[in-house]
Order: sequence, then structure tokens, then C-alpha cells
Amino acid sequence: MHTILTGDRPTGPLHLGHYVGSLRNRIRLQALHRQFVMIADLQALTDTDPAKVRGNVLQVALDYLAVGLDPAQSTLFIQSQLPELSELTVHLLNFVTVARLERNPTVREEIRQRGFERAVPVGFLAYPVSQAADIAAFRATLVPVGVDQQPMIELTNEIVRRFNAAVGTPTLVECAALIPEQGRLPGLDGGAKMGKSLGNALALSASPDEIRAAVKRMYTDRNHLRVSDPGRVEGNVVFTYLDAFDPDHAEVDRLKAQYREGGLADTVVKQRLENVLQAQLAPIRERRAMFASDPAGVCRILQDGCARARVVAAQTLRDVRHALGIEYFASSAPG
Ligand code: TRP
Repeated sequence: MHTILTGDRPTGPLHLGHYVGSLRNRIRLQALHRQFVMIADLQALTDTDPAKVRGNVLQVALDYLAVGLDPAQSTLFIQSQLPELSELTVHLLNFVTVARLERNPTVREEIRQRGFERAVPVGFLAYPVSQAADIAAFRATLVPVGVDQQPMIELTNEIVRRFNAAVGTPTLVECAALIPEQGRLPGLDGGAKMGKSLGNALALSASPDEIRAAVKRMYTDRNHLRVSDPGRVEGNVVFTYLDAFDPDHAEVDRLKAQYREGGLADTVVKQRLENVLQAQLAPIRERRAMFASDPAGVCRILQDGCARARVVAAQTLRDVRHALGIEYFASSAPG
């Protein structure tokens, strides 16, 4: 059995990219392993307005519960409520160089997108260290994340090895990333990545009308002008989404063959995709509405999750303090 730690920044409602990239894996894994799922509000604060972060914590919690993360099987918690995570970040910062952080390809791309240029806040550059601390604090051995998080996992293991070597005892443990086979879901516009800030996302909580409109504006093959023309399936967003969501793979393969040959209209393929998405998102939307009608209940779930998660992180921090030799008084242990 693995211990799993994973999470999302509360910067907006979760979307289909999150679902294909990691949420689906987490739902499968929660029955098999000991899973902690974190709303990474501290990480969101490294580049997002505090009021926006605060407002989105509940939204992400609702998304988690709506897709089927079960608080009896997964511990759902909020990063900022575990001060141990911040303390471990401070310790781990000593085991990584600025140059190493600047080499991280995901962070580089994010710095470019946000237009920071040379004025990168230290907290932003260092968020992968905070993420390493999240993982290490739970002694997680498996981290289900999207493919763009792979460099973070490599960095985490480097830091863990350096820390253990410095203190001379194997205090923290290394982890493995679990990346979905599916690959990254493109945006509605065919862009490499779905992102709310990129304006090409479909939220898990989307209404039937929003789903319909999203499928309508989806890119197909720009050269497929007449129904009788042969069309391209590769890079065709509608087919990529069918691959990700349609449970009937044989039928999708048949449609692909027909599309390649010519004689299959975009409208027919799109209608199939719309039906598939409407069917899969309807129960998610209904469960979300049910939980949303009971915010106090959701709050209790999170509070209980924070308490359970804190016990685990506090034990690691006791071990870390011991390894560093910074326990001076009998009563100084956290937690
Ligand atoms: N970086 C993740 C995201 O952007 C969130 C996150 C924070 C995370 N800490 C983590 C994911 C630890 C996995 C493990 O969504």
C-alpha cells in the first residue's frame, strides 16, 4: 500500500484537464491506498490575489467531493492549516540552489507566461520546494499528477536525498510520480494545455448550455470542409476528447476510420462528444449542488481532514527536528 499526497491550487474551479490529468486517477487510487488530497492555498498565494484564493478553496473542495473523492477514503485538507508544511519548506530551502530552481522547465514557462521577467518573487521561484515539503511531510511514495509536474517530483527526490545525506539518517522518503497514460488534455482551442487563464477550459461544474457551447466552438480539422472530404484525426480536438471520455473505444475507432476516409460530418462527431460529456458531467454537477447546499458540512469535512493530516505531518516534523538537532526543550515538539 502506498501513501499518496497530491493536490491542486485553488485559483479557479477545476476543469476537464484536471479530471483527465489527475482527478480520475485519484478516485481509482483512494480505495487502494492511503491518500491525502490537499488544497494548495499557500502555493496559490505565490502568484494569486488572496481574496481570489480564499474564494476558491470551497470551490475546489466542492469539485473534489463532486467527482467522487470520498472523505472516508481520502483525507481532504487545506495546506495553510498545517504549519508543519511551512516549517519543513524552510528546512528544505537549505538543500536547493537558486540555479537549480531556475532550471525547472515548468517554472520557467510559468515565469514567462506571467511576465515576471527578472522580477520573480522568491516565493514563486521556491514553490517547488514547498511542494517537495508537502510530499515529504507525508512520506508519500506516490504522487498522481499531470505530466507538467514531473520536474517537481525529480526535484523533490533530489532534495530528499540531500537532506538525508546531510543529517546522516534516512529521515525523509523518495516518491514516484504517477502520470496518466492518456496524456495531457488539450484546450478547447487545440492549445497544448487546458487552463482557466488561457480561456480554453471547460469547468467540471459547467452547465448543459456551457457544455454545448464548448463543443460547438471546438476545433476539428480545418481542411475538412465538405462531409465527403477525408479528414485528419490526429490533432483533431474532438477526437482527442472522445479518446479521453468516450467509454466505447471500438465505436470511436470506427468513427475515426470513417472520418479519415471521408463521409463523416464534424457535426455528427461533435454531437457524439456532446452526448458523452453531458452524460459524464451531469452526475458530477448534481453531486456538487448537493454539497454546495450544505457549506457547513463541507467545512466539517475539511476541518476533520486538516486534523487527521496534521497528525501525520507533525510526526515527520518531530523526526526532522530531531535529525537536525533543534529540539532544545522537552516540550518543544510541535503537534
Ligand atoms: N502544483 C500543484 C498544482 O499546481 C499543486 C500541489 C501543491 C501539489 N503541492 C503538491 C501537487 C504536492 C502534488 C503534490 O496543481
